[in-house]
Amino acid sequence: MAILVTGGAGYIGSQICVDLLALNKDVVIVDDLSNSTLEVVENIELISGKKVHFFQVDLKNKIELDLVFRTFRFSEVIHLAGVKSVNDSIQNPLEYYSQNILGTIILLDCMKKNNVKKIIFSSSATVYGVPEKIPIAESAKTEPINPYGLTKLAIEQLLNALANANKDLSIVILRYFNPIGAHESGLIGEKPLSKPNNLMPFITQVAMKEREYLNVFGDDYDTKDGTGVRDYIHIADLSSGHIMALNYLDDFKGCETFNLGSGTGFSVLEIINAFQRVNGIHLNYRVVEKRKGDVAVCIADIAKAALLLNWRPNKTIEDMCKDSWKIQQMQSVALAKEEGIIIEKRKYELWIPQ
Ligand code: UFG
Repeated sequence: MAILVTGGAGYIGSQICVDLLALNKDVVIVDDLSNSTLEVVENIELISGKKVHFFQVDLKNKIELDLVFRTFRFSEVIHLAGVKSVNDSIQNPLEYYSQNILGTIILLDCMKKNNVKKIIFSSSATVYGVPEKIPIAESAKTEPINPYGLTKLAIEQLLNALANANKDLSIVILRYFNPIGAHESGLIGEKPLSKPNNLMPFITQVAMKEREYLNVFGDDYDTKDGTGVRDYIHIADLSSGHIMALNYLDDFKGCETFNLGSGTGFSVLEIINAFQRVNGIHLNYRVVEKRKGDVAVCIADIAKAALLLNWRPNKTIEDMCKDSWKIQQMQSVALAKEEGIIIEKRKYELWIPQ
C-alpha cells in the first residue's frame, strides 16, 4: 500500500515525503508544480536515497487523478495541495474556491470510489480569524477574515460532515501556525516561484541583497516591542506532526483537529535579531504601515497535539533562522554536486493517460 501526498513537491509536502521515505513508506506525489519544480522531487530522492512516484496532475483534473487512484492502492492520503496566499485570495477568490474546494472534492470523491478511508488535511491557523484568547485552542471560534481562510474552513466543515455520515472514516485536520526553516541538508525548503508573502522569505531575500529593505509592518501593536507576534514552527517539527498523525489514524475513527505550532510567540524584531545573531548578517529594515488584515498576536495552544498525538516540537528559533538561511544560499542541486553529492538524474514519466 502507498501513501498519496498531494502537493508533495511543495515546501511542506517535500519535507513530509522525505520523512515518509525514511520510514520506508511507498510515496506517491501528485503536484501540479504551480509553485514548485521537478528539482524538488529530485532533491527528495537525493536526500532519502529512495525513489518516489511523481505525477504532475492538477487535482481538478478528475480523469488524471482517477488514473492515479487506479494505478496505486493507497492506505492514506496526506492532502496539502492548494493555493495559500492571503493577499491573492482577496484579489482572486474564484481561483481560491475553485482550486482549494473543488480540488478537495474531486480528491475525496476519488478516495470514496477507491475505498481509501484515511486522510490528513493541511489547514491553517487563519481559520481562527481574530483570536479572542491567546494561546488559541482548537475549540476557539473559527471566523476567517479572508477567502483563503474561508476555503480552509469550508474543507474542514466538509471533512467533519463526512466523518459524521460515515463512521468508517479516519480524518485528522492539522492547523499550521507559521512554518519556517528548511530541511537540514539545505536542499529542500521554501523557494517561492513568485513574490513571497511571508516574513522569512523576505528576510532571506534582504540578506541575499535581492531586496534593499525588509518592511516591518507596524510597530505600535500591543505586544512586547510593538511588532506582530507569531508562533513560528520549524518545518521539520511540522512534518513530524504529520507522521504522528499518521500513527494516530491507525486506530482512530472520526474527525479530529489539532494545532501545529511551537506554542511560543516571537515578534518581528525578535526574528530579525535572531536571524542576525545566528547567521552573522546585518539586515536592513524599516518600519512601515501595518498590513491590512494582520492581527497583533497569534500563538497556538499545542496541548491537544501533545496529549493525543504524543507530538512535541524540538527545534529552536535559532535552528529555524539557520536553516532558512542555508536553503536560500544553496540555491540549486549544482551546489550540492560541487560538494561531492552526486545526483543520479532520471527521466520523469509525467502522466500519460492510458
Ligand atoms: N511581516 C513583516 N514584513 C513582511 C512580512 C511579514 O513585518 O515583509 C510581519 C507580519 O506583519 C506578521 C509577521 O511578520 O506580524 C508574520 O507574517 P507572515 O506573512 O509571515 O505570516 P502571517 O502570520 O501573516 O500568515 C501566516 C500564513 C498564512 C496563514 C496565517 C495564519 O502565511 O497562510 O499565518 O495565522 F493564514
